[in-house]
Amino acid sequence: MPPYQKHIFICTNERPTGHPRGCCQEKGSLKIRELFKEEVKRRGLQGKVRANAAGCLDACELGPTVVVYPEGVWYRVQTPEDVKEIMDQHIEGGTIVQRLAIYPVSP
Ligand code: FES
Repeated sequence: MPPYQKHIFICTNERPTGHPRGCCQEKGSLKIRELFKEEVKRRGLQGKVRANAAGCLDACELGPTVVVYPEGVWYRVQTPEDVKEIMDQHIEGGTIVQRLAIYPVSP
C-alpha cells in the first residue's frame, strides 16, 4: 500500500522576469502550496495526504499548476477558495473539480 492516499504536487518553479513561458511562482504558487499544507494539517490528514513542491510540470502558461495523484488530475489553482474546493471535493470527497481542471477529465 502506498504511503499516501493522495499526493498533491504544486509547481513552485521560478524563472527570470520576462521569460516567455512565465512561471508558476510569479503567479503565486508558493502561497498556494502553503495553503494546501495548512489545509492538510487543519483537517488532520497528515500521513494520508501530502502536499509537495514540484519543479516545472510543463504547463507553465496554464498555472499555477497542481497535479493530484493517484488520479493524475491537473488543476489551475489561483485562490484560497480554489484550494478549499479541491480539498473538500477531490481530496476528501473523491470528486474531480471540473471547473479547475486544466485538461478534460472523466468524472
Ligand atoms: S513553471 Fe509551473 S508548470 Fe512550468
